[in-house]
Amino acid sequence: MKPLPKVELRLYSENDLPILRRNNAPEMTKYLGGPESEEKLLDRHQRYLKLKAGEAYMFIIWLNEEAVGSAGYWEKEWKDALVWEAGWGVLPEYQGHGIALAATLALVEKARIEHKHRFMHAYPKIENLASNALCRNAGFTLIEECDFEYPAGHPIRCNDWQIELFD
Ligand SMILES: CC(C)(COP(=O)(O)OP(=O)(O)OC[C@H]1O[C@@H](n2cnc3c(N)ncnc32)[C@H](O)[C@@H]1OP(=O)(O)O)[C@@H](O)C(=O)NCCC(=O)NCCS
Repeated sequence: MKPLPKVELRLYSENDLPILRRNNAPEMTKYLGGPESEEKLLDRHQRYLKLKAGEAYMFIIWLNEEAVGSAGYWEKEWKDALVWEAGWGVLPEYQGHGIALAATLALVEKARIEHKHRFMHAYPKIENLASNALCRNAGFTLIEECDFEYPAGHPIRCNDWQIELFD
């Protein structure tokens, strides 16, 4: 197996709006309801800056001092319990080199050490083959298909992937 790229996760900061904008491109948001308006993007920027440690985290993925994507996890109520939900994006020119896998493994490790919720989930759309492959490669188990609305008012069919962080 090829060694994974050495990525670094740095908490989202005031300077990261340009990468958030690049993440908002049509090819990056194909399975996420398409690009957001400028207003929504700026809201997201502010929201990310105000996230409370212990409840939600958003990181920029850095590789060789270049920002190449984002990854994060946040609390979600799921089947009457609180779990972590994880999400990720790697810019198109950096995809296919294991960057998302390296970042996801780092997220899982952080959440394991944090020891707050026993399970982390991810809910990629069933047709998002790269994101589903990533879940499998990162050691998540496929639980079942499920229905969501994302963005609000748009029904989507997703896979529920889960990883147990501790006993
Ligand atoms: C999902 C995403 C983060 C993966 O990033 P990445 O750095 O390319 O991921 P990796 O290189 O670690 O792994 C990608 C895996 O998907 C597989 N893959 C990629 N495109 C695929 C396709 N069309 N069909 C099947 N598998 C595919 C790769 O082969 C690889 O698996 P493998 O190592 O077993 O071969 C990236 O595609 C992305 O940012 N997509 C847009 C945003 C998005 O959809 N985010 C997820 C929302 S749930």
